[in-house]
Amino acid sequence: MGGVWAPGRPLAALLLTASVLSASLLAPGAPPEPDADAAQPRDVDKKSHVELKMDQALLLIQNELPKTNLTVYWTSERCHRCLPQVLASVYRSGKPGKLSTAAVAVSTQHKSLLQLNDTLGRKELCRLEYKFGEFGNYSLLVTHDHNDASEIVCDLLVNKNPIDSDLPVSIAFLVGLMLIIVICLIKFLLSLDDFNNWISKAMHSRETDRLINSELGAPSRAGPLGGPDTQSETASPSAVPRYRCVDTFRGIALVLMIFVNYGGGKYWYFKHASWNGLTVADLVFPWFVFIMGTSIFLSMNSVLRRGYSKLKLFGKIVWRSLLLIYIGIVIVNPNYCVGPLSWEKIRIPGVLQRLGVTYFVVAVLELIFAKPAPDSNCDLDERSIMLRYFMSDWPQWMIVLMLENIWLGVTLLLPVPGCPAGYLGPGGIGDWGKYPNCTGGAAGYIDRLILGDDHLYQHPSPAALYHTEVPYDPEGILGTINSIMMAYLGVQAGKILLYFKDKTKEILLRFSAWWFALGLISAILTKFSENDGFMPINKNLWSISYVTTLSAFAFFIMLILYPVVDVKGLWTGAPFLYPGMNSILVYVGHEVFANYFPFQWKLEDSQSHREHLTQNIVATAIWVLIAYALYKKKIFLKI
Ligand SMILES: *[C@@H]1O[C@H](CO)[C@@H](O)[C@H](O)[C@H]1NC(C)=O
Ligand SMILES: *[C@@H]1O[C@H](CO)[C@@H](O)[C@H](O)[C@H]1NC(C)=O
Repeated sequence: MGGVWAPGRPLAALLLTASVLSASLLAPGAPPEPDADAAQPRDVDKKSHVELKMDQALLLIQNELPKTNLTVYWTSERCHRCLPQVLASVYRSGKPGKLSTAAVAVSTQHKSLLQLNDTLGRKELCRLEYKFGEFGNYSLLVTHDHNDASEIVCDLLVNKNPIDSDLPVSIAFLVGLMLIIVICLIKFLLSLDDFNNWISKAMHSRETDRLINSELGAPSRAGPLGGPDTQSETASPSAVPRYRCVDTFRGIALVLMIFVNYGGGKYWYFKHASWNGLTVADLVFPWFVFIMGTSIFLSMNSVLRRGYSKLKLFGKIVWRSLLLIYIGIVIVNPNYCVGPLSWEKIRIPGVLQRLGVTYFVVAVLELIFAKPAPDSNCDLDERSIMLRYFMSDWPQWMIVLMLENIWLGVTLLLPVPGCPAGYLGPGGIGDWGKYPNCTGGAAGYIDRLILGDDHLYQHPSPAALYHTEVPYDPEGILGTINSIMMAYLGVQAGKILLYFKDKTKEILLRFSAWWFALGLISAILTKFSENDGFMPINKNLWSISYVTTLSAFAFFIMLILYPVVDVKGLWTGAPFLYPGMNSILVYVGHEVFANYFPFQWKLEDSQSHREHLTQNIVATAIWVLIAYALYKKKIFLKI
């Protein structure tokens, strides 16, 4: 995405057509399955058959109290300040000796908090906390104490042990690790001369290769298509070197993004957090934004240096932003099967739309204010480099910080009808159910007001756990300000790379400083707590702490990748490098073909994490292979 200037219009147009065509063939987007986090009340007083879904356990609640009807309430430990929900009502045991039992499915993702009340007296009888295990079978026995009949005891018994849901993840991790070790070993062997000679003699691989290529008449394709991005587009001496760490980082974010978008084995930690908090799925998008900022700086620097007309560049920025937004809208509205696209129901915000707007703002800021970084060839002394480093972007900083103030002001002060000012919660049953329609506070209100309920994402991540009713879009208008901030922090990484070119120590020092400073801000904002900080980490709101935390991570990753990949060349960045160099194509492709074989097939047991995980890993690996094939053929999609 970043730093792509060369007009690759034909390919873009082709891909667009393809995406529109296949989107029109797509099955209507299936509504998300009900999340297992919502415990499901079942029938009462008979041992009804409960069909267990993934991340659920069977709980038999047996009421042995002769005179009391029970109401059982349930909340998840992760549901912050949530109204307990009725899980089941269990009537008193009728005839002596005959139990009154309710069978319910309970969520196993997080710890459950159960509260048992006397239905009539509204008196709490007992409460317990327990982390149920997937597909386990449990009994909750409510009886009088044998010794003291006035005491009521609740005993939890395990009838059947749960399965280990995380085993497939551990196995996949170990297999991955082994694969890496084997590959390193092979590489090491190949680097030994003797072995290498022996192999090449044994296989004549070069000759065969040449033969096949000439046979098929494949021309050697170097030259104009040489690089996917501007950075390597020209071989002119002043051209900016291509930073592999940037592509690698982008690739890592993209590969993770494909994996979690495809379902991530349906594990909760590979899905977005319900509201506050951070899961693996919440990491990728901001990293993508960050690296886009870095690429914008690198490519803008190289084109400015070559003296392009700013007006023409502006035109390109506008065109590319509009294209991103357009592709984004096509991708998030795939339900053409149910009839022609209806303007009344079209979702407007989305990932690419957010990227498009962010790209526009940051690229225009850089276009207006940026001066090319000093050439390493020209002999500026340390002090003037430092001076230029610090002075070069104060106007951009002023604007970005001003935007950030607007975000803070609107988020904390905007009066939202029926909601407290500065509300940052999920609404629904959160905050004791006091503000059910306040999901997302000002951010949600602005989107619903400006764009309208029907043009927003209809299945926000808090829907399952917090029972939110109103639509809420995680890529809404207000949060865009913070993704601009994120991209602008990415610009800083690019700036560091260019200003201190070839001075590894200086670069690493600055990456560490940013990492530390942003980490410190995050620690203060969140007080190291998921829900109780000044500003909790929140992907749905793109809260400030989310931006600072994720950019701290990003600087840390750059701190590792830059020396390993670019300076020492210990790692080529493969296989992440390949999708990283073709991000738009891979992103659009994985979205459009998500429901097609071989990215998806019918599972034997749709409630098995193991099968989902296998499918999602295979699909992700195939996209990496596709990216590799395209890289080999030097096909890179630019828009
Ligand atoms: C769960 O355990 C109870 C008690 O042992 C048993 O009666 C019931 O059939 C079991 N249910 C399932 C679905 O295994
Ligand atoms: C929330 O919205 C729903 C439907 O949009 C409405 O029925 C309900 O009364 C609202 N609740 C509050 C507290 O405003």
